Amino acid sequence: MTPLWSVAEVLAATGGRPVGLGDGAITAISIDSRELPKGALFIAIKGDTHDGHDFVAKAIEDGAAAALVSEEYFARVGGAWLIVVPDPLEALNRLAEAARARSRARIAAVTGSAGKTTTKEAIRVVFEALGETHASIRSFNNHWGVPLMLARLPREARYAVFEIGMNHAGEITPLVKLVRPHVAVITTVAAAHLEFFNSISEIAEAKAEIFRGIEPGGVAVLNADHAYLHILLSRARAAGVSRVVTYGFEESADWRIDRYAETLEGADLQIAHEGGRFALALKVKGRHMAANALCALIVGRSLGGEPGAVSAALADFGAPEGRGLTQRLGPGTRPLLLVDESYNANTASMRAALELFHGVKAPDGNKVLILGDMLELGPQSESLHVALADSVAAAGAGAIHLVGPHMAALAAALTGKKGLKARVTHYGDAAQLAETLSSALAYGDAVMVKGSNGIRLGQIVKLIRERFR
Ligand SMILES: Nc1ncnc2c1ncn2[C@@H]1O[C@H](COP(=O)(O)OP(=O)(O)OP(=O)(O)O)[C@@H](O)[C@H]1O
Ligand SMILES: [Mg+2]
Repeated sequence: MTPLWSVAEVLAATGGRPVGLGDGAITAISIDSRELPKGALFIAIKGDTHDGHDFVAKAIEDGAAAALVSEEYFARVGGAWLIVVPDPLEALNRLAEAARARSRARIAAVTGSAGKTTTKEAIRVVFEALGETHASIRSFNNHWGVPLMLARLPREARYAVFEIGMNHAGEITPLVKLVRPHVAVITTVAAAHLEFFNSISEIAEAKAEIFRGIEPGGVAVLNADHAYLHILLSRARAAGVSRVVTYGFEESADWRIDRYAETLEGADLQIAHEGGRFALALKVKGRHMAANALCALIVGRSLGGEPGAVSAALADFGAPEGRGLTQRLGPGTRPLLLVDESYNANTASMRAALELFHGVKAPDGNKVLILGDMLELGPQSESLHVALADSVAAAGAGAIHLVGPHMAALAAALTGKKGLKARVTHYGDAAQLAETLSSALAYGDAVMVKGSNGIRLGQIVKLIRERFR
């Protein structure tokens, strides 16, 4: 296999100047000296907390093929095994462009207010059944994550899927112009990062930036189950996107889930499309998961995937860690059922998860909800938390543990709520809950843990896994 890059190719793409460097092979691209495969090119990026330039020496010592550094660093520190450029982040972008230019892969890009990583994973599973596939890792979806994932695109890849995120208007445009997808997905539009937007319509406008980078003849695949679809449709038209398809539970969707039935291990769907109907079996639960899977099916089929192969691939798709991963812990006869939703939370994902938990039965005990703050919601934060009261009540939990300062308002709203039988407890932070966790849970219970990553409920999940092995 030809290596990812040659030094000569990197120099040509970035306009960099080699210092004390042969023309070897570069096997990988890394911006983190802790995750550095042998033979990688280490690109020194300045982040919010660290400057990659502080780790150049260590990267070389650990076996990097070369480090790409700034002129400023080279003037100050010098060294060898270097490629010197005015601005390494800019150079990473140029490398991403070169990766895209040489690639013959069919490419999908995914954005949306919730479900990007989950949908990207479902698309990855479908693509892997179709041919050699490259996919973004974790949520590497920002101004350095997207070019980094693109710079890692192997020249042989036949399919690739990238996640694109944003906190502000204008951020998606340059990223999608790098990715130049054949298919662009918007998973949903909802309140997230509201501190930087005045309204959800504005968020829809920002997501619609993804249409600006679609390849000619490309497809926009849009979830139809939200109130902002009309904005997306009109922006897609204005951007000259030739094919737009919609999916979801909504009556008007081009690909409609017209039957959703949970099974012991997952869900059985019936999909209506162009007057016909077909079945899709999943091993994940939740209506949002059904929509994510259907989206991946459409992406696979619109890039030429054979329908049988695409559906078969999706039958194996499992919820990623922190995003609905469900485990039975402890004794087989009386396990603790853990639904791990700890990776993040905003209004859309909270509602989706609560709906999922509504359908969950405790093996032989209580249903317990552990919910943490939804962060980054700006001045409307308190009312958005209080507005969850009905969905929380409807989830059917016998005990509700709320964690974090923003959840105090929801705790108050729930405490006064008519007909709610659940015990509601509020904790200042995850550490406080951790102290009393053992008395809050028992084998036989079903527990769902969800909150923004910053509330650190991932630690609670870890504790549960340790204590209820
Ligand atoms: N289609 C969907 N609609 C609404 N909520 C969803 C959907 N898919 C997944 N979720 C919920 O969103 C949570 C986060 O999912 P995921 O990590 O895929 O989102 P993301 O958009 O990648 O988030 P981030 O912006 O942090 O990268 C899941 O745990 C689940 O609760
Ligand atoms: Mg993500």
